[in-house]
Formats: sequence, structure tokens, C-alpha cells
Amino acid sequence: MSDQQTSAIVTGASRGIGAQIARQLAADGFAVAVNYSSSPEQAQAVVSEIEAAGGRAAAIKADLADPAAARSLFDQAEALLGPVSVLVNNAGMMKLAPLAQTGDEMLEAQLDLNLAAPIRLIREAAARLPQGGRIINLSSSVVGFYQPGYGAYAASKAGVEAITHIAAKELGPKGVTVNAIAPGPVGTDLFLEGKSTELVEQIKRLSPFGRLGTPEDIANAVSFLASPQSAWISGQIIRANGGAI
Ligand SMILES: NC(=O)c1ccc[n+]([C@@H]2O[C@H](COP(=O)([O-])OP(=O)(O)OC[C@H]3O[C@@H](n4cnc5c(N)ncnc54)[C@H](OP(=O)(O)O)[C@@H]3O)[C@@H](O)[C@H]2O)c1
Repeated sequence: MSDQQTSAIVTGASRGIGAQIARQLAADGFAVAVNYSSSPEQAQAVVSEIEAAGGRAAAIKADLADPAAARSLFDQAEALLGPVSVLVNNAGMMKLAPLAQTGDEMLEAQLDLNLAAPIRLIREAAARLPQGGRIINLSSSVVGFYQPGYGAYAASKAGVEAITHIAAKELGPKGVTVNAIAPGPVGTDLFLEGKSTELVEQIKRLSPFGRLGTPEDIANAVSFLASPQSAWISGQIIRANGGAI
């Protein structure tokens, strides 16, 4: 990549892990598209923080459950911030239920946002990212935990891992790397919703470090994968989970 500033799209960057990925990539020198769907104030607050630190960013609304959103997000990011060289597929949702109680609405919502949206965004990225471009997908370590209740969510993330390997092979000839980060539990809204303090303490002990991951832990790994230093790493899944699995 040349020294000219390029931009990075971070989906679901208004809160949680995505917000920290946006701050980190801005600190790394990218102009950052802070995508959100229903939290405009929080997305704008992330943009303001980035600007206050001397970076460039824009909040871009796009509900990624809408099939038309992938193209519109890329169009808006390019118009506001210039050529996109990094796509981080971070937006996601987790709804837990045993498979026997997994209704169609809950199933479709998770498959749509967690799996179909990254596929549509990779399709756009394939046509637009330059040589040296980077795609980083967010999977989850629950893909390997096989915990009851996680069926639909883990299936959507297993799909993300499959497309990561396949996209790496398809886009390698264009000089674009594709990798995934599979975090263990991170103390965000997505993880904490509906969990008792006792359960959170129990989950902390899955890691030999005895704590939850932080958005910074994950954003640091994304920062490496977005950098020129990761040029020879593609088609890999990094389980950023403090040794939990
Ligand atoms: N936290 C964990 O323990 C953990 C572990 C493993 C993997 N992950 C993965 O890491 C990623 C981030 O998780 P998180 O914990 O940071 O989640 P979070 O705190 O719940 O944040 C989710 C983000 O996704 C956005 N979003 C939700 N629906 C959207 C839609 N339809 N279109 C566009 N954006 C949408 C939200 O924006 P709005 O508020 O604007 O809708 C928000 O910015 C997810 O893919 C998740 O599966 C998380």
C-alpha cells in the first residue's frame, strides 16, 4: 500500500468491540467509517473521540440486515473518506436458546446479520479493495466450545470461519488477505445481557488468566491483521481468548 491515507470500514462500530477497533484503526492512520444501525449518538461519540485525537472518521448508518446495505455502506464510505483498503466485519448479535426452542425469527436474524451480511460485504470488497487490502471477520471462540444454547449463534460463526478460508483463496490472487479473529468472552452488551454475576465469574475462569477479554485485546489483534506486517498471513482464525480453548 502507498503512504496515502486509505479508509477502513468497521461494521457495528457504535459500541463494544467495534467501537474500540474503530479507535485503534484511526490511531493506526486509517480514516474510519464507523457503521451503526440504531445507535447514532454512540456512533457520533466514537467519531468525535477519533477527531479529538487528530484522526478522520465518519458515522455511517446502514442496517446490515438489509441486503442493499453492503453496497450503500461502501459507496458512502468511499464518498466521505476516500478509497477503502480495510473491511472489518464486526457487527453481530447473539441470541441464546436450545435448538428445540430456536424460532425462525431468531434463527434468521442471526444468520442474516452474522453470516449473510459479511458475505455481501466481502462481495463488495472483492470488487473494490486494492492490492494490499485486508478483510478481517469476527468469529467467536464458541464455535469450538459446543455449549448448549449456542446452536444458532455458533452455526453463524462457523459459517464465518468457512467463508474466511474460502475468501482467502479467492482474493489472494488480488493481493488481499482475509482472516478472522475469534474472541472468547468480552465484557460488552452482547456478552453481559441476561447473565448473572455468578455466571460471569464462572465464565472468567475459562481462561487461565481468570478474566474476561477487553475490546482492546481484540482491537490489538485486528490492528496487526490490518497492518502491512501481516502480509503473509491469510486464511487464518486467531482465537483471541486468553488461552480458554
Ligand atoms: N462480546 C463477546 O463476548 C464476543 C465474543 C466473541 C465474538 N464476538 C463478536 O464480536 C462482534 C462484536 O460484538 P460486541 O460484543 O462488541 O457486540 P455489541 O456490544 O452488542 O455491539 C454490536 C454492534 O453491532 C451493531 N449492530 C447490531 N445490529 C446491526 C445491524 N443490523 N446493522 C449494523 N450494525 C448492527 C451495533 O450497532 P447499533 O447499536 O447501532 O445497532 C453495535 O455497534 C460480534 O460479531 C460478536 O459476535 C463478541
